[in-house]
Amino acid sequence: MKSGKSVLEKGYVLDEKYHVLLFIKSARDAETYRVKTQDGSLYFLKLFHYHKLDRSAFDDDRNLLEIELVRKVDHKNLSTYRDSGEVIIGAHKYGYLVMEFISGETLSERMARAPFTLYLDIKQVMTGVLSGLDHLHRMPEVIIHNEITPQNIMLDLSGNDLLARIIDFGHARSFFQSSKTYNKAGLDLNYMASECFNSIFSPQSDIFSAGAVMYYLLFGLPPWHREISTFDVDQDTAEDMVLKDRLRKLRFPEVTEQIIGYDTAAELILKKALHQDPDSRFQSASEFLQALKGDIEVEDVDLVQKILSDESALPRVRVKNVQGSGFDAIAGMQELKDQLRTEVIEVLENPEEYAGMVFHYLMGCFYTALQDVGKHFLPSILRRK
Ligand SMILES: Nc1ncnc2c1ncn2[C@@H]1O[C@H](COP(=O)(O)OP(=O)(O)O)[C@@H](O)[C@H]1O
Ligand SMILES: [Mg+2]
Repeated sequence: MKSGKSVLEKGYVLDEKYHVLLFIKSARDAETYRVKTQDGSLYFLKLFHYHKLDRSAFDDDRNLLEIELVRKVDHKNLSTYRDSGEVIIGAHKYGYLVMEFISGETLSERMARAPFTLYLDIKQVMTGVLSGLDHLHRMPEVIIHNEITPQNIMLDLSGNDLLARIIDFGHARSFFQSSKTYNKAGLDLNYMASECFNSIFSPQSDIFSAGAVMYYLLFGLPPWHREISTFDVDQDTAEDMVLKDRLRKLRFPEVTEQIIGYDTAAELILKKALHQDPDSRFQSASEFLQALKGDIEVEDVDLVQKILSDESALPRVRVKNVQGSGFDAIAGMQELKDQLRTEVIEVLENPEEYAGMVFHYLMGCFYTALQDVGKHFLPSILRRK
């Protein structure tokens, strides 16, 4: 049953229920298929190679986080869970996840086929994405998707509306999980918020990615676009290159000819969503949504920055490489303290929204800081990979 390309061949029946119709794609630790049940219904199936998955992909009870999180969500702008299970094929154990099949295409497929020409359509797509994100961020557990990209948003073409649906919870994490690690390998840095390079994720990092997707829909490329191949450079070098690019002011190509109904208010929205300081971004997906609808006015973040002190107006710095001892370490600690202050302020300002969770979040930030600064001092068992 094993072919050189995929684990399951066409015609294979998985767990006596799912008849394989088509192999879709192979990723580092999972393969995806179109399958059908006996009653003829179509489904999307993801097969996880347990032996290739990173430890951070599992929760404390050894359940796969992608399955555990996606089974809890229920919203029209998110993909819909149907079933999951485990199977042994050959010598290996696999997990599988079955989702309702979305008849449509990803945003990147759509952009390659026919870029959007109406600003209204782009706003409608973004309204779907932000409504889906808002649902995730408002769940009691607060789910951060962590991989909002044009490949992970599908346009559901089964109805008449332009319905955007967020798929692929492969890097999603609960905001309050005690260990905040996630495997960043293979993620598209162009859509990742800068603080995620230090494994600090929050609703604001998803908001950055949503802003990057909107920028791509308007201008055809992600903001501060850079071709990055981690075959040519290692992950740290690639991240440093991206961070350096982001010191530049965001540019907005002229699109009034290509995008009918384009409104330059989009530029204020994008500057805010893509701000390097998470606190200066929209504080929630619904605030982003209100700005998109024109229900709230968006300030020009460049002008707001002028009022701030020079120090706080500086772009966020990468702290990952702050190591060593003596004065270097002390200087690094100051940067980390500044970073912690800005990372937790939103939570502290909204205690009712985050009641009871503040402590966990602070501990998560503190632990990340310790990991980053104290790589040399922590016992190896406590070090993050
Ligand atoms: N529910 C779905 N229905 C139909 N196609 C889907 C569905 N979810 C994902 N896909 C398609 O399968 C591809 C891979 O799925 P995804 O969950 O993104 O896995 P990966 O981790 O490999 O990126 C997507 O890019 C999309 O084309
Ligand atoms: Mg994907």
